[in-house]
Amino acid sequence: MEPISRRIALTLGGLGLVSAAAGGVGLWRELSADGTLPGSTGETLRTPEVLRSTDGVLDVRLEAARGTHEIAGRRATTLGYNGGVPGPTLRVRAGDTVRVELVNSTDETTNLHVHGLHVSPEGTADNVFLAVEPGGSQQYEYTLPADHPAGTYWYHPHHHGTVADQLFGGLYGAIVVEEDDALPVTRERTLVIADITLDGAGAVAAPSAPERMMGREGELLLVNGQRRPRLRAAAGERERWRIVNACASRYLDLSLAGQSVRVIGRDGPRSTGMPSLDDAVLAPGNRLDLVVDMREGAGELVAAPVDRGGPMGRMMGGGTGAGGDDPVVVADLAVAAGPGADLGPVPPAAAPRDLRGAPVDGRRTLRFAMSMGGMMGGDGGRFTIDGRTFDPERVDRQVRLGTVEEWTIVNDSPMNHPFHLHVWPMQVLSTGGVEPPAPLWLDVVDVPAGQSVTVRVPFEDFGGRTVYHCHILDHEDLGMMGVVTAR
Ligand code: C2O
Ligand code: CU
Ligand code: CU
Repeated sequence: MEPISRRIALTLGGLGLVSAAAGGVGLWRELSADGTLPGSTGETLRTPEVLRSTDGVLDVRLEAARGTHEIAGRRATTLGYNGGVPGPTLRVRAGDTVRVELVNSTDETTNLHVHGLHVSPEGTADNVFLAVEPGGSQQYEYTLPADHPAGTYWYHPHHHGTVADQLFGGLYGAIVVEEDDALPVTRERTLVIADITLDGAGAVAAPSAPERMMGREGELLLVNGQRRPRLRAAAGERERWRIVNACASRYLDLSLAGQSVRVIGRDGPRSTGMPSLDDAVLAPGNRLDLVVDMREGAGELVAAPVDRGGPMGRMMGGGTGAGGDDPVVVADLAVAAGPGADLGPVPPAAAPRDLRGAPVDGRRTLRFAMSMGGMMGGDGGRFTIDGRTFDPERVDRQVRLGTVEEWTIVNDSPMNHPFHLHVWPMQVLSTGGVEPPAPLWLDVVDVPAGQSVTVRVPFEDFGGRTVYHCHILDHEDLGMMGVVTAR
């Protein structure tokens, strides 16, 4: 890798911005004598602490603080929840009451969002308009409906203006809504993938203005805070993997050659009609649930670069951002010989709901756009929805509770923008005019550069005020967010 990705350099070279973007920080990889990236490989994958509900209640304290954490095998000064990167995994069930006391021991305002959970956005529930000042705390309480979909979700800060900094700095964790009947697997793993850039002193590197505009990608790709850890299994074992893309901006195109892999869920419950792993790219915020039937041998979980466009348009091949143009090994897999235990078949999933034939109560268009004017001024550009940047006092879309709406998100810019709506999941009807082969439900939908995406949203319950935004969190912080109310 280079101090600044070749792609950004190519993109910005013509604008004379490369030297500004390259900055002066000494990066870790420049410190290693043998020219390889530091950060150990071969460590066993660690598991974030698990906090599980009992008798329908989970009552936890999450303290956000800056501290010394082991990141990529080194001591680093990052943010974290309860001293961990990622924070603890919250395991709950449909119908549970979840109470989280968020304690802010950082020196910046923060708050908490439970990404993907179908819960109220009001009061002290999933209300992203709350702000928790340094030294302060906030008691959140979420009530999951009795029919809340099982699946993999996550939590992260959502205070407008600093979301990318705080996520990139280490504040994120997984939420699992468990099924009533566990799948027949040997073990389950939660893989929270995130990226970070650390300077020579082990502090989180600040992004340049062009990196903000692109959406920052870290130099180190982490899984559960580790760089390229090892997962050990035996042939015949079956594992369930819950993968969270907690990167601030990076897309993940994952593959696991040589293993028998099935995608069983995306952003929510197990469902039929899932694509193969090769056909499921994770935008920032997306999750992927896999079943892996282990075959003897060594393997690698690889993230291929994804071209998500750039301010000057799409470049040839490869990826964008500091993540670089080469595939990255996320984790190594070592599968020993084994007796080949017979776990029986994975029971079939239910077919997903399909709104394609449903009556639609309203149709709306949202336009995503960006201008580069601001970039020249160094503020990272102007990122808008319907020509406006975020204003928490303004309501951009008012929908009637109990209706189904069809929204078309038009991307007038030369970069992809992953569209995320809080509270209500979306059924994707088409992307660039192409329909998904089976009903597809997501809470983050990629809208490719210059294309549009149409979704249907059942605004059936949980009235209130919340947001939709680009999940490239630098773009969200730069204003690519709107307010929706359902009443
Ligand atoms: Cu993952 Cu509005 O958030
Ligand atoms: Cu969210
Ligand atoms: Cu964006």
